Amino acid sequence: MPVKPETRPSFCLDHACVRAWLTERDPAVLEDLWAEADRVRQAHVGDAVHLRGLIEVSSHCIRHCLYCGLRAPSEGLERYRMTADEILACAQEAVALGYGSVVLQGGEDPGLTRDGVADIVRALKRDTPLAVTLSLGERDDEDLLAWRKAGADRYLLRFETSDPILYRRIHPNRSGVLSDRFAQLRRMRRMGYEIGSGVMVGIPGQTWDALADDILRFRELDLDMIGIGPFLPSPRTPLGDSHADAFLAEPEDQVPNDELTTLKAVALTRLACPDANIPSTTALATLDRERGRELGLMRGANVVMPNVTPLRYRIHYEIYPGKACLNETAVACQGCLAGRIQALGRTVGTGPGGRNQTHCKDLTSCDFHH
Ligand code: 5AD
Ligand code: FES
Repeated sequence: MPVKPETRPSFCLDHACVRAWLTERDPAVLEDLWAEADRVRQAHVGDAVHLRGLIEVSSHCIRHCLYCGLRAPSEGLERYRMTADEILACAQEAVALGYGSVVLQGGEDPGLTRDGVADIVRALKRDTPLAVTLSLGERDDEDLLAWRKAGADRYLLRFETSDPILYRRIHPNRSGVLSDRFAQLRRMRRMGYEIGSGVMVGIPGQTWDALADDILRFRELDLDMIGIGPFLPSPRTPLGDSHADAFLAEPEDQVPNDELTTLKAVALTRLACPDANIPSTTALATLDRERGRELGLMRGANVVMPNVTPLRYRIHYEIYPGKACLNETAVACQGCLAGRIQALGRTVGTGPGGRNQTHCKDLTSCDFHH
């Protein structure tokens, strides 16, 4: 069967090609990458930009990830855990703003119990039309299954880097438990979750080869959702304090945590995973408050995750400092984003906005199958 012109692959996506694109600096050459990413985005997921309401449900965390401001040893942070009623009220606000899904995100917090979270998910599914995404870190299969049975639709767990040595260095194990996010992603897929993952760009010690591997790994995992943002140093952490230089790779190998490299990673991810839901991340908007969100959406992304956490909690959820929209109400962000999306000639998505694989169902007619 002939391949439809708009889905014909014109870009080589093996390791060497992806690496070459990542290190390309010529703006004229990069125009081809931007145009192709935007074309593939349009052909596979269309012009709708889906808005997901982000609820930062708990800033407690028992882990010691070397990059994250919420890590257990961080001092001087006020820790909070939202109540079920507060979470449900936030979700109702997301419904009122027209959002089709909410993401319940938190640190790895044993205070968010199996039953407690299951009750919240059940209430959300009973009282709202929302798709429910959880992003609560590395959890036992029993927890994940209970939440799936309660009605949770999706789970986000970034693997952060596919380089096993770097992964180990920045993710100390919980005592006695080996951290293996790939294994958890595979198990969640079998449980029937839509699964999301992603990486940070420019982690100290991340090489160009590693970032190219990350993008190829997204494709291998057949992810439904892929979040990519720049690493932003948090002074509360070993990767962001005055000794952080010790973690850097050799200068010619080290990936910079800049906007251009992040946009190249987003664009290449769109080419590698044409029908995935890809957000233009808050971290990218933090790096470039003027144009970050838009540039992400113009170079492959089709999702934005506006924060709907009550302002009094939000300021304490300090993964990294200076987060975009920290003091904007949910209503303000909704209006701002709708305007920005329309200015790009795109539309605000309606409904839950799950992954639509129709383009790739018939593998014989789809050359992007993986
Ligand atoms: N800079 C940028 N992103 C970060 N995250 C955690 N710490 C940082 C940081 N310092 C990202 C991780 C995590 C997500 C919730 O936030 O990728 O998965
Ligand atoms: Fe929050 Fe613009 S997206 S104010």
